[in-house]
Amino acid sequence: MIDIVFIDHLQQATTVQAEPGVSLMQAAVDNQIVGVVGECGGSCSCATCVCGVDPAWADRLTPPDALESAMLESAAFSHPNSRLCCQITLREDHHGLTVHLPESQF
Ligand code: FES
Repeated sequence: MIDIVFIDHLQQATTVQAEPGVSLMQAAVDNQIVGVVGECGGSCSCATCVCGVDPAWADRLTPPDALESAMLESAAFSHPNSRLCCQITLREDHHGLTVHLPESQF
């Protein structure tokens, strides 16, 4: 298990444990993290799982592909390191990954 830190729009941090191999979106939903909806179930078609990767982690993740980049343009939340949580598959070396969440996904 690895630790993932979600920081909400009020700067309140919540640390959860997640199994490597699941998506960041699934880890959030499984732990009732408010701010991640994941309406499409992870098929990269709703943009209700957008987050902002903490600058300390921005270069340590696989960059978004073309589909994710296109979806990010329609997301309600804008952040310098915006990503769709469902497109980030957690790995052992993501222990401590920190992401920022919007007040709302709509
Ligand atoms: S859950 Fe729908 S785009 Fe991520």
